[in-house]
Amino acid sequence: NMNKVRMLEFPQRGDQRGHLVVVEGNQDIPFEIKRVFYIYGSDAEVVRGQHANRLTEFVLINVAGRSKVRVADGEGNEAIYCLNRPHTGIYLPTMIWKDMYDFSEDSVLLVLASEHYDASEYIRNYEEFEKEIKTLNGEV
Ligand code: TYD
Repeated sequence: NMNKVRMLEFPQRGDQRGHLVVVEGNQDIPFEIKRVFYIYGSDAEVVRGQHANRLTEFVLINVAGRSKVRVADGEGNEAIYCLNRPHTGIYLPTMIWKDMYDFSEDSVLLVLASEHYDASEYIRNYEEFEKEIKTLNGEV
């Protein structure tokens, strides 16, 4: 799933009055948006996320400040992305492990999700994630 992870760039509709960024479901975002949440007030030492989702796709946008996202595919591949511009986001498909960290003090991380919250579709154990990836790949 690593090759599905990608940065998205949203059009800026700024003028002399300031910046405006629009993100529309199924257009700028590759899914219908069912849920929005945002994360702020996390210290630089904090690591959030640490899960994969069986059903939910996400787009993460640092609308203020900066953070980093480390993604892992459960097959040994890892990548790190920096979120530091309000008009860019990262698309995360289902079944990708993610850690968010290195939050700047002013970081506001906006998260758009394709599904309503359901704790049972979260995988919060990395070994379990690797196991489910192997099953999906038909290796067991
Ligand atoms: P958690 O998934 O640990 O946040 P993050 O992945 O950003 O570090 O969620 C923290 C708590 O909030 C946890 O008790 C579940 C709850 N929660 C909801 O009730 N609804 C939601 O949409 C989300 C994302 C979390």
